[in-house]
Amino acid sequence: MLHVAIEAAREAGKYLKYNVGKVRSVETKKGEERNLVSEIDKTSEQKIIGIIKRHYPHHAILAEESGGSEASAEYKWVIDPLDGTTNFLHGLPLYCVTIAIERKGEIIAGVVYDPNLDELFTAEKGSGAYVNGKRMHVSTRTRLLDSLLVTGFPYDIAANPGNVVGHFANFLMEGQGIRRLGSAALDLSYIAAGRLDGYWEVNLNPWDMAAGVLFVLESGGRVTDFTGAPTTIYHKQVLASNSLIHTAMIDVLKRGAV
Ligand code: IPD
Ligand code: CA
Ligand code: CA
Repeated sequence: MLHVAIEAAREAGKYLKYNVGKVRSVETKKGEERNLVSEIDKTSEQKIIGIIKRHYPHHAILAEESGGSEASAEYKWVIDPLDGTTNFLHGLPLYCVTIAIERKGEIIAGVVYDPNLDELFTAEKGSGAYVNGKRMHVSTRTRLLDSLLVTGFPYDIAANPGNVVGHFANFLMEGQGIRRLGSAALDLSYIAAGRLDGYWEVNLNPWDMAAGVLFVLESGGRVTDFTGAPTTIYHKQVLASNSLIHTAMIDVLKRGAV
């Protein structure tokens, strides 16, 4: 199944890169002015689903643009055909394809493909996580002051859900620096690779984080909600780190709690 996920992610990634600057139709989603979708997102998704269905016609699919199917199937493929749509639409080369495989509610494998850097992130539960075949490990930084943090802002940022602005301000004062890449799947992949040390975000969807959460766990990191409690990809808060700065991050998030 991982091989099929890789084939689909590479195929879709190539398609995305080829179509930068060639977008014909952009619409808004859920009535949110900042939440955009193009025909490229939709075609990328159809390509991925086509490849999966050819190999596994009875598996369920949960995909951003076309929704869910066959809820009772043992295996579910969780797909974001273009993570980083806003970047993509501006020609900013920070976007990827992300696909995860869930078995009876547990993520067992995942893939993120970044066509711009030609980086393929992969993991199978219990077997470690890899970037282009090289084993990934989270960073070893122990102090927030030495840590490079990353976050994202939900499309309904104007409503400041979950005190997004307060948390951002607090981390700005505590960390070495904060990045906002615009692709949750890459944020999590980079935590797993030790390039970034801590990540928090609210209001993500399962497809944004399914593969990335597995990478962080398989690379020695920790993933919880903002209080340190266990979480799943179906919850709205995610805090992921190298595990060493996790408690310090929870303390900052407590301070900014609404
Ligand atoms: C978005 C990106 C972004 C995050 C948003 C997501 P999309 O996904 O992952 O980093 O901040 O919450 O919705 O819309 O580009 O697939
Ligand atoms: Ca996404
Ligand atoms: Ca998307």
